[in-house]
Amino acid sequence: MGPVIAVANQKGGVGKTTLAVNVAACISYRWKDTGRRILVVDTDHQANASYILSRDSGKYEETLAAIYQDEIARDYRDLIQTTNVSGVDIVPASPMMASEEMKLASREKKGYRLKYFLEFNASNYDLVIIDCPPAINLFVLNAFYVADQILVPLPPEDLAIQGFQQLMAQVQAVREINPGLSFLGVVVNMLTDRVRIHREIRCFLEEEFGDKLLGIIHRSVRIQEAEAMNLTLLDYSRSSRSFKEFLGVADNIIEDLGLK
Ligand SMILES: Nc1ncnc2c1ncn2[C@@H]1O[C@H](COP(=O)(O)OP(=O)(O)OP(=O)(O)O)[C@@H](O)[C@H]1O
Ligand SMILES: [Mg+2]
Repeated sequence: MGPVIAVANQKGGVGKTTLAVNVAACISYRWKDTGRRILVVDTDHQANASYILSRDSGKYEETLAAIYQDEIARDYRDLIQTTNVSGVDIVPASPMMASEEMKLASREKKGYRLKYFLEFNASNYDLVIIDCPPAINLFVLNAFYVADQILVPLPPEDLAIQGFQQLMAQVQAVREINPGLSFLGVVVNMLTDRVRIHREIRCFLEEEFGDKLLGIIHRSVRIQEAEAMNLTLLDYSRSSRSFKEFLGVADNIIEDLGLK
């Protein structure tokens, strides 16, 4: 199995899902004709990534909920399904995962379900991208226990930056159990150049993160349009600035993880 990237931020609506699906699409675009494959794992009961990537408006029969329910005894390969992006497969989420998360607390191996699932079923993927929910809950812990890298979308807002410190404290705590967990970087999302505070925070983040700032995605209606059509920007608007920005982030990840 290739590297596992968890896209995480406990704050809601910051662009985790948008980043996860578009980075997957852009890396698969760069990997065109190489036969390499990417697996997206949707661990959020809102199932937004499943919707955007689905071929059939998000209707999936088998979902990730299965791995959190039973004992880890059966072959779960049928949970992996194709998407509307060539070279990208998905393990979709479902709304019923909301109640599973609570029940998981009393189940065995509660933090390791995703790790076992991926180890047994995703060995032929060259990259795994996990879209996390806006929380620090057991599903996020499952993601952090199996991830090699954490990727964090960050809006140019003071409160989001404060939240980032809390997230990093969690990552630090998880390192006692998963010492291989690294910080891949941040992507500033929803930047508007004409907003002065955005420009100021951008400067601050550029200084603060240096080459761990993997890219800047401007606020753009193209992103919402693409999602409403359940498409990534790769298939919605390859000429858009947003697509080029996501491609830049993808190229930095390819470079940093040696995925050329
Ligand atoms: N750069 C952007 N410009 C405009 N809209 C954006 C941008 N990034 C994300 N959005 C929109 O903002 C909303 C939230 O984005 P997204 O779903 O990716 O965030 P999230 O962090 O995954 O949310 P949640 O925490 O609920 O899972 C979506 O409607 C998305 O289309
Ligand atoms: Mg999301």
